[in-house]
This record gives sequence, C-alpha cells and structure tokens, in this order.
Amino acid sequence: MSSAAVTAEMLKRQAAARALEHVRSGMKLGLGTGSTAKHFVELLAERVAQGLEVVGVPTSEVTRAQAESLGVPLGTLDEYPVLDLCVDGADEIGPDLTLVKGGGGALLREKIVASAAHEMIVIADASKMVAQLGAFSLPIEVVDFGVAAIRRGIERNARAAGCQGLLTLRRRADGHVFVTDQGHLILDAAYGVIREPALLAARLAEVPGVVEHGLFINLASRVILAGADGVTVIDR
Ligand code: 5RP
Repeated sequence: MSSAAVTAEMLKRQAAARALEHVRSGMKLGLGTGSTAKHFVELLAERVAQGLEVVGVPTSEVTRAQAESLGVPLGTLDEYPVLDLCVDGADEIGPDLTLVKGGGGALLREKIVASAAHEMIVIADASKMVAQLGAFSLPIEVVDFGVAAIRRGIERNARAAGCQGLLTLRRRADGHVFVTDQGHLILDAAYGVIREPALLAARLAEVPGVVEHGLFINLASRVILAGADGVTVIDR
C-alpha cells in the first residue's frame, strides 16, 4: 500500500473510532458497507469481545460475513425493525448532509437500514466532503428486465431535473455484470454537478424499473470526518 493509502486508512479508522463512542450496550445497530464501515465493524468486534452487548444488522452480505467472522451478534430487520443507530460510509457528503452512496453496490439495503434507524452517523475521511454532489457517479439500482427502456426513462426524468450524463452498466473487475445482493443491476450516472438533489431523487423514483438510487436525503444526522488536522463532527 502507498503511504497515501495508508494515511487514508488511518483517517477512516479514526472516524470509525469516534463513531464507536456513540455505541452503548443494548443497542441495535445498522452496520454499513465499504472500507470505512469495515473499520467500524472491526473496532466494534473488539468491544464485543470485551463484553459490549449489541446486535448488528448488516447492510450487505460482505458486511454480514465480516461481522460474523469477528463474532459480532447479528439479527435481521424483520427481527429488529427499529434500530438505535446506523453507522455507514459515503461516497460524497454534500450540503445539508445529503449523501451519494452505493459505490460498493449496497445502496438499497443501506437505505432501508438507515431509514429504520433513529440516527445515521456517516464516517469518512475528509476528502468525501464536497460543496456540490455529482463528481462521483450516482449509482442507480434497476431491475434486470428492460434495462434499455429503464435507461431511457432515467435519461428523460434526469433531464427534467437538470441532469444529463452517461449511464454505465456496472461491471465487476472480471468483466461480468455486477449484480447486487438483491439480484439487481446498477447504472452509474455521470451527471457532473447535481444542483437539485431532491428534485433528481423524486424524478428518478418515478421511473418504472428503478429500485433505488444513491441519493440519501435527510437520513444522515451526523457526519464524522477525519482529516489531516483532526476529527470534525458535523450535525444536520
Ligand atoms: C457502499 C457505500 C459505501 O458506504 C461507500 O461506497 C463508501 O465506501 P468507502 O468507505 O469504501 O469509501 O455506499 O454501497
């Protein structure tokens, strides 16, 4: 790993460690997905080994496997439909703590789990904070039927929200089409600047075949950012 990558991992871990301070015994916790959330699950597992009693609800099969292997007790949203806290990463954090998520392809479960939680804390290195969303392509999860037609619907509705850009069907590193944990596909939308996230979110949700999109609006209550000059906490 390059020294820049090592530093980035250290910052993610610092943010994760700060989020852990919000966890109390007895809590039901949404466990996020991605490299930052992975640090949180590792640190949480250390506390569980020391006697902390929590139940985690993972947002992906990857997180489930990690948490299981580390001995974090897990449950499902059916067993625990109301969670105390969800801790997750983000691809971009914009004004009003509106997020772009789904870089890891877990946006659907992440949004369901975050919506079920009283509080969502986002952990990230400071590079994720942006003045305007959209430099990171917006993941849009779609069903595996009529994708060409769904794509046209997305293009039409996104234009109505002032967004235009290439939609790329996500593939895995081996070239195979990426399939989400729920069996759907992802179109990554390169919109550039998203000036009106709420309007775009509403228009995308109207397209038949769109299951979910990566705009998280009014979900994050707190962001913990770790940067070169320390940890910053931002509340909505
Ligand atoms: C996964 C996500 C992740 O939270 C997001 O991609 C950030 O990941 P990382 O912490 O690895 O930068 O939304 O679907």
